Amino acid sequence: QFDRRFLNYLCQLTNTIRRFDKSREGLAYLGSLLSHKRAMLYFTQPSTRTFLSFHSACHILGITASEIRDSATSSERKGESVEDSLRTFSSYVDLIIMRSPIPGLCDRTAQLLDATPRPVPIINAGSGPDEHPTQALLDIYTLTRSLRMRGGIDGKTICMVGDLRRGRTVRSLARLLANYEGVRIIFSSPPAFRIAQDLRTDLAAAGVAFEETDAFLPAIAEADAVYMTRIQDEYDVGDESGALDYSKYHLRAEHLPSLRDDCVIMHPLPRRDELDPEIDHDPRAKYWRQERNGMWVRAAVLTMLFGVDDRIQLPEL
Ligand code: CP
Repeated sequence: QFDRRFLNYLCQLTNTIRRFDKSREGLAYLGSLLSHKRAMLYFTQPSTRTFLSFHSACHILGITASEIRDSATSSERKGESVEDSLRTFSSYVDLIIMRSPIPGLCDRTAQLLDATPRPVPIINAGSGPDEHPTQALLDIYTLTRSLRMRGGIDGKTICMVGDLRRGRTVRSLARLLANYEGVRIIFSSPPAFRIAQDLRTDLAAAGVAFEETDAFLPAIAEADAVYMTRIQDEYDVGDESGALDYSKYHLRAEHLPSLRDDCVIMHPLPRRDELDPEIDHDPRAKYWRQERNGMWVRAAVLTMLFGVDDRIQLPEL
């Protein structure tokens, strides 16, 4: 869905929005852009940062945001289908931002809404273990900014660590990295949690150089960026995760000397034990910035979706 031109433009647009967000005049201008629009945040799977960053992005742009965060509080509790719920939202809002535990549901419902008299766009804010596209966009933005003094993402080695089979952020980010020249991806995981075959096939077809390993230290040592992820045990069938010793895939303070001096440490968050909080103070740790970048990147996506992005590319206020 996204090409290099789109990604470059999005990063540029996000930089401008970020600058505007620093001044009262800039914020007043952004807040006037989409004050005639309404959005529904429909999150039936837990979220802290994706929900809040989309909510804040709507606020920045003047969009009125409504929310359903639990189907127990909607008429789904009375037996209404997800499809009918979404069609109902489309009667009242101009955009649906949706997180669901069901893979592929966003795509399916978007097609369904397209066939109704009042189609509205749906943004996928995380769909099961499948995709998390706006997370990948903010990851690309964070990588682009962090590596800007070293020629950007092209030619870099990115090491992704953890539960790669069920990690939707990894799946979406790996696909976006295919847009960059000479990128090499090292997937480091327990054998049971290697990437799924469809991602393997897509990366090979896109000509991306990638390796899969169960080694941890040698993999992170050569990386320009290390992307840690947590175990996704919410998708366990039985006790797959409990049976596993995951401790080898933890980044601890004692590992920091093994990383490159200019390595970028990332994590989509939330974290558990796989990323030691002591690392937060290391200048290479970018995950709290990564999280904050999400708000500006999502604001940029919203301006593009509603076709007002050309009004952002103004001289700085
Ligand atoms: N990274 C991410 O999707 O975080 P949340 O689940 O808190 O939204």
